[in-house]
Amino acid sequence: MNGVEIKPGIYWVGVKDWNLTEFHGYSTPYGSTYNSYLIMDDKITLVDGVKHYLTEEQVARIKSVTDFSKIDYIVVNHVEMDHSGSIPQLMKLAPQAKIITNSAGKMALEAHFDTTGWEYEIIKMGDSISIGKRSLTFMTTPMLHWPDSMMTYVKEEKLLLPNDGFGQHYCCDALFVKDARKDIVLKEAQSYFANILYPYVAQAEKALQTAASLGLDIEMIAPSHGLIWSGKEEVETILGLYDRWASGKNDGKAIIVYDTMWGATAKLAATAMGVFQDAGIPVMKYCLKDKQTSEIIAAFPEAEYVLIGNPTLNNQLFPRVAGFVTYVRGLAPKNKKGLAFGSYGWKPGVVNQIQDVFNELGWQTVAPFDEKYTPKSDVLERFKERVKELIALK
Ligand code: FEO
Repeated sequence: MNGVEIKPGIYWVGVKDWNLTEFHGYSTPYGSTYNSYLIMDDKITLVDGVKHYLTEEQVARIKSVTDFSKIDYIVVNHVEMDHSGSIPQLMKLAPQAKIITNSAGKMALEAHFDTTGWEYEIIKMGDSISIGKRSLTFMTTPMLHWPDSMMTYVKEEKLLLPNDGFGQHYCCDALFVKDARKDIVLKEAQSYFANILYPYVAQAEKALQTAASLGLDIEMIAPSHGLIWSGKEEVETILGLYDRWASGKNDGKAIIVYDTMWGATAKLAATAMGVFQDAGIPVMKYCLKDKQTSEIIAAFPEAEYVLIGNPTLNNQLFPRVAGFVTYVRGLAPKNKKGLAFGSYGWKPGVVNQIQDVFNELGWQTVAPFDEKYTPKSDVLERFKERVKELIALK
């Protein structure tokens, strides 16, 4: 249980959560990691804690590098409990350490823990603190994705420690992207962005612009989840992807999400799929009974068209569809073209609830489409025309 040197004098002292399958409703098929970094300098500095149940592992890794009595600073970039769960224990072991955070971080720590006796260095956007040969510069990124969120930049190392930013829920035997399955890293980075950061794209764009205006020269991005991006090429790859996702650009694909009771809505979904295929548009089709919501959302950054199909139950949205629509509403992805469709027995128009959400999100849409009982061939032909109208939207 040793720390791992990622740069001379800088150690990874995080933990791996190999068996994590779910992160507050977000499916994590590859587990996750909670990364923490120890910077050995005149002022020994620890950056970020880990989830509470893995505290002992983090403690052991820190002890393999230094004695707790020598730690001067603990940087808290973000107080969500996957990064702060171990902080109370760390502060017991290193009561002399000062917490470096911003004012929102201090408030959140005090709201979560008994912080009696803790001392703070409260920083503001752009502040720098010398720790010896190195300096730490702080970039506050409020609501990316909590009020307290911030990033730490180590100028002398060209190293960015962005906490949740640029992370992935991906646990494997490697620490660096270059030593891992890059296809999985990129897929999980996209999933992380879509499931965690989608509501905050404006803040993400602003953070990228701020980083550019500060002239940060970055050669390594070490997030607090997943693998470390090292070298200019990898850094440019992930910064470029964030720029693209935050801007709302997509790959022109279509996603059809639906549920079904007796096959009517499934039939409409299959019909829509055929229209996209005939038009040469890449299309994905997911039934909510069989696919995790967060795995579907992971594909949203690629999609220009989103179709949501509902089988009406008890005059309401089908519960799994309602849950999915609620999740989409919260994530608020932009720049989509939407079509609500479905089937009913005796209460038409329930799909308008989906349309209302599309309207709230500012998507372009065509009129919702629903049909009583099982759609016959004439109905399917009419539905095809509705899907073609969607494709024709400019
Ligand atoms: Fe990884 Fe927002 O916590």
